[in-house]
Amino acid sequence: IYGGERKNSKGLNMNIISESMPFFNALERFKSQQWQAAPLVAGKSLSGTAQAVLSPYDTTEQVGSVIHADDAAIEQALSSASVAFSDWCRTPVAQRATALQKLADLLEENREELIALCTREAGKSLQDGIDEVREAVDFCRYYAINAKKMMSKPELLQGPTGELNELFLQGRGVFVCISPWNFPLAIFLGQITAALATGNTVIAKPAEQTCLIGYRAVQLAHEAGIPADVLHYLPGAGSVGAKLTADERIGGVCFTGSTGTAKAINRALANREGAIIPLIAETGGQNAMVVDSTSQPEQVVNDVVASSFTSAGQRCSALRVLYLQEDIAERTLDVLKGAMNELSIGDPNLLQTDVGPVIDATAKSNLNGHIEHIKQVGKLLKQVELPPACSKGHFVAPTAVEINSIKVLDKEHFGPILHVIRYKAADLPKVIDEINSTGFGLTLGIHSRNEGHALEVADKVNVGNVYINRNQIGAVVGVQPFGGQGLSGTGPKAGGPHYLQRFVTEKTRTNNI
Ligand code: SER
Repeated sequence: IYGGERKNSKGLNMNIISESMPFFNALERFKSQQWQAAPLVAGKSLSGTAQAVLSPYDTTEQVGSVIHADDAAIEQALSSASVAFSDWCRTPVAQRATALQKLADLLEENREELIALCTREAGKSLQDGIDEVREAVDFCRYYAINAKKMMSKPELLQGPTGELNELFLQGRGVFVCISPWNFPLAIFLGQITAALATGNTVIAKPAEQTCLIGYRAVQLAHEAGIPADVLHYLPGAGSVGAKLTADERIGGVCFTGSTGTAKAINRALANREGAIIPLIAETGGQNAMVVDSTSQPEQVVNDVVASSFTSAGQRCSALRVLYLQEDIAERTLDVLKGAMNELSIGDPNLLQTDVGPVIDATAKSNLNGHIEHIKQVGKLLKQVELPPACSKGHFVAPTAVEINSIKVLDKEHFGPILHVIRYKAADLPKVIDEINSTGFGLTLGIHSRNEGHALEVADKVNVGNVYINRNQIGAVVGVQPFGGQGLSGTGPKAGGPHYLQRFVTEKTRTNNI
């Protein structure tokens, strides 16, 4: 269905026994595996003090250990990546793209190990792990093909007779890629492959919570043919990112995470010595869904549950505020409460699990704090009881609370918490204003069987991704380019046709020889 020379990865269909059986057999090998991660600079794993990595699902389960990057590792990576840039940016784009295609193949070959890392290190559900590897594969192939289209030949420009005018695209230098824990493979590799495809060298700094999977991905990238001095890996706390973004040798930053951190990076880039360089930031959201009285409650609830509670609500696309037209609110909420009762919460390694843990103790405590607060401000509609086994890890009970206005939310609450607001049909313009007033603009869901009405709301709410009569998560590479506006990010959209433009610089050559 995607046409052209590119096809998205098929992933795995767990309903087909010939796909699921070999998968589960292969997964078995990684159930008790221990992984090690360390700074990987110019192909060498550096030594240091190792810290234990524990699973968010069961905090007594060790998944491996990690050595964080120190100042010497940061300096070596910066110096090696700066030197390597000159050759890498002149390596033919077809050669760079071939390495990324090979990386996609290696990700598929190592799928079970990567999925096991997603479930055990990040607490992702098995289905989310399967989808994560699929998306990472898609990013590799999509950017490889797009870079070739963009950069194989210079663009010929018009000019006077005898004069040759050409426009060349080139890498910018050392790109610092700072990625989040909620897509520890897909966003991690999406940033890196975009930067590499366009001829930049890369220093990758993973989220502190998911260093093991990032390390494995970088090993695979080297195996695929990305030179060791072109891609470096620096696991560690936020201070590692802060040191990298303050350095005058870097040529760009690609960041996914909180709006506050994106602003801090922007300030650091403005204050450092050296060139003016781009920041590509994909940040948070206060995502709404607007449901009018023509919609079907069962379909709405299916999509609300998927959008709010899948991945334990830890997607930047996730639904946070559901606006229900009052005529259908009561019926829809009844169906919603029933559906929440059916959620299976617990071990992310089981296929039937809908909701796994949140990432760490801090997230759990912040989310539970918000639930206690918002229950005082609004009215609790439903809180699912956690099964006893959940006490082993960082679980938060899926919760729905009715509130009066989106304005009572101080910030994005990144977990399985849904806020519900009833509205009267005549107040729809106020609803649109209210959603826009947050300043965020990432995803919007709409449920309506009145197409004119749905398209009007889609037009007036300032967001990057609108989904009509479906859930609002799981953007597909090349199909729903993903990314927001305002407080939600700088653009361009990941997995979209314009993404690579921001990773390059342009050179016009006028030749009168
Ligand atoms: N790209 C993800 C999604 O669409 C969110 O980060 O769900």
